[in-house]
Amino acid sequence: MFAAAHPSVHHRFNEGPFIRGTHVDKSVKFGLHPKYESPDPNMDHMTVQDTCRGNGAALQTEMSPVLEASHVAKRYGAVVALHDASFSLQHKEVHGLVGDNGAGKSTFLKILSGVVAADAGTIAVDGQTIHMRGPQDAMDAGIETVYQDLALVDTMTAYQNVYLGREELSRNPVKRWLNLVDDRLMRRRAAEVLSSLAVRIPSDNVPVKSMSGGQRQCLAIARALLWGRRIVILDEPTAALGVRETEQVLEVIRDLRKHDVSVIVVSHNMQQLMSIADRVTVMRLGRTIATRSVRETEIPEIVGLITGAIPGDLREERTAEPATP
Ligand SMILES: Nc1ncnc2c1ncn2[C@@H]1O[C@H](COP(=O)(O)OP(=O)(O)OP(=O)(O)O)[C@@H](O)[C@H]1O
Ligand SMILES: [Mg+2]
Repeated sequence: MFAAAHPSVHHRFNEGPFIRGTHVDKSVKFGLHPKYESPDPNMDHMTVQDTCRGNGAALQTEMSPVLEASHVAKRYGAVVALHDASFSLQHKEVHGLVGDNGAGKSTFLKILSGVVAADAGTIAVDGQTIHMRGPQDAMDAGIETVYQDLALVDTMTAYQNVYLGREELSRNPVKRWLNLVDDRLMRRRAAEVLSSLAVRIPSDNVPVKSMSGGQRQCLAIARALLWGRRIVILDEPTAALGVRETEQVLEVIRDLRKHDVSVIVVSHNMQQLMSIADRVTVMRLGRTIATRSVRETEIPEIVGLITGAIPGDLREERTAEPATP
């Protein structure tokens, strides 16, 4: 027998906009939480554009960003993990975040995911400032993070993992009273999402532990999609994968655009990143120092910005001497 859903989880789930009746309404399923549907008309988007100084800035004038982080800072005791990180993510954009080890990428992503509280700065989704008190605030704002350990349960199947923690209760009143979940419904909806993303999973009944790293990564991404998230954050999604698995994951990331999803992805692999991203933001020593449109840059420029051989776009960067190796 399938595990019963936790009542509080189910209650929260049913309040969501994602499931209607027995069919999947894609416009709803892939939509945003209604709370975030109307941008604040008072939002000053010039401030947003000012924070992005790369060649991608032209893109900024066309529409307001889905997500905007301004002057985010974080210190751990004496260690300053983030000095000043500003970033804007456009609608249906894949935005790469790059930087050397310790540049502050993961810290920045954790702040955007609500896992770590920032000491300063603001985060806005569709023009509305989000007060992040924890990961649930980020999820409510439509932000889903795929963690490196993926948080999948090895002994459960693909569809059980897709619904993990948000199981659908049976529509049969008796079973519902007994807190039993609707296995068939969840299986069907999970299969729909997986096929819409061209995720190839061997069989419904195969436990996740027998899947490849790539399939597991795709599954975690699909989960974000099923829950109607509009922003997916990926921290080095292909770091531990082989060539074919990597290709599968990159394809799924590219595919997310078709579903109205914007992506922030951290990677050390420039070639891969340039093949999927629209823009790349470079971080150095806890600062976001430059944003470039992938069409208008080359890998050597990005590498130069990462190492300090090329100064960034910030005023203090331009006046500073290039770093010596
Ligand atoms: N919990 C923590 N406590 C103390 N210092 C931390 C903590 N987390 C991060 N740091 C420090 O903050 C800085 C930025 O770390 P972060 O993990 O964000 O870098 P990164 O860009 O993700 O690096 P990598 O490419 O190696 O993953 C580093 O100097 C790191 O040692
Ligand atoms: Mg990291």
